[in-house]
Amino acid sequence: MNELASSPISDTRSLKVALLGCGTVGSAVLRLLSEQADDLAARIGRPVEVAGIAVRRPDHHPDVPQHLLTTDASGLVARDDVDLVVEVIGGIEPARTLILAAFEAGKSVVSANKALLADDGVALHAAAAKFGVDLYYEAAVAGAIPLLRPLRESLAGDQLRRVVGIVNGTTNYILSRMAETGAGFAEALAEATDLGYAEADPTADVDGFDAAAKAAILASLAFHTPVTASDVHREGISSVSATDVARAAEIGCTVKLLAICERVGPTGDDAGSGDSVAVRVHPAMIPTTHPLASVGGAFNAVFVEAEAAGQLMFYGQGAGGQPTASAVLGDLVAVARNRLAGAAGQSSTGYANLAVRPMAETPTRYHVSLDVADKPGVLATVAHAFAEHGVSISTVRQNGHGDAATLVIVTHSAPDAALSATIAALRDMPTVRGVTSVLRVEGLS
Ligand code: HSE
Repeated sequence: MNELASSPISDTRSLKVALLGCGTVGSAVLRLLSEQADDLAARIGRPVEVAGIAVRRPDHHPDVPQHLLTTDASGLVARDDVDLVVEVIGGIEPARTLILAAFEAGKSVVSANKALLADDGVALHAAAAKFGVDLYYEAAVAGAIPLLRPLRESLAGDQLRRVVGIVNGTTNYILSRMAETGAGFAEALAEATDLGYAEADPTADVDGFDAAAKAAILASLAFHTPVTASDVHREGISSVSATDVARAAEIGCTVKLLAICERVGPTGDDAGSGDSVAVRVHPAMIPTTHPLASVGGAFNAVFVEAEAAGQLMFYGQGAGGQPTASAVLGDLVAVARNRLAGAAGQSSTGYANLAVRPMAETPTRYHVSLDVADKPGVLATVAHAFAEHGVSISTVRQNGHGDAATLVIVTHSAPDAALSATIAALRDMPTVRGVTSVLRVEGLS
């Protein structure tokens, strides 16, 4: 533990919390703080009280004790009687400025802000360390699932090879419905919107921005290496078609939007020997026997492979007020205990400082479906395109014959750029009538 810049709390008064933001998560935090006040006091060793709640529009919060509401978030953070700050505003500003002000005033912060942590985690951790306070953010990735603390603390004695997760519930709901009903993306998205799983503007979820921020946070912790959202290769699910989903089922696979963080070797080796990290978010086929394949609906799950621990799986609710508030309160208990002990807890470390491998050089495997004419020499021409780009084919299957033949090819692992160049070449070939499905494959032996 680091020594705190601010002095330990010496009397027996309550710990005072400033709550920044009172949306779905903030109001659930407030409710749990009140409902579980006695248990929290017993677990922390001191009662916890809400000192104030900073919101933009007080009149939008009729159910909250009105005397606690303020529009002056910086004033609230700076108040002498505030010991800890919970930031559930989201977004970059004013959250960053408020968190830095809290650190400077010797106050630990619990945040659920994935965008900010993925963008500026290094500077925020450095500022927390400088002032000897805590920055905890379990709720920023996969909601209720205890994941960041296991990575940061429980697995701190191990070497992690891969962290692969379904970390966005909206897209998992959409892909699950496509698999269950045969619907296309647009139809499944419309259903998700009607049921409230998808937001009115679903861009952050369906285009993979939300998952990419979470992947950056996971990779940073797993590999002790600074990774930001801009380091993450990102593809969303809007181009996943009903054909892709059907083709996956034909080979015993299902389609998931995966956040994949892995250590990779120097020259196109598979994960494991790694002197660099590769971090990517994209849809992929995974075998239905893979533990992540059975994660349905809006649930999240993260599969971890470690040298000594082997395979671990974390599963649960990745969003929602109450589940996310559970993670916030878990952090609040931890930082409150640290505060009373006059110390700061385990922080993130970036000591390994590994290079981030560009997607073009990252080893992947592709599943490709082609419409071709069933004539002599067609397969040879197609195989030649793969060979020319240094891509080895693992399996080939032909469906149909005559003018309506389909070739389904699964490759071995190759640099992603070689695979995408092969697809571009296939699209240009006169013998190929159409490239009807291209998806990466993960977890196939
Ligand atoms: N919008 C996210 C999801 C939850 O669909 O999982 C918050 O990160």
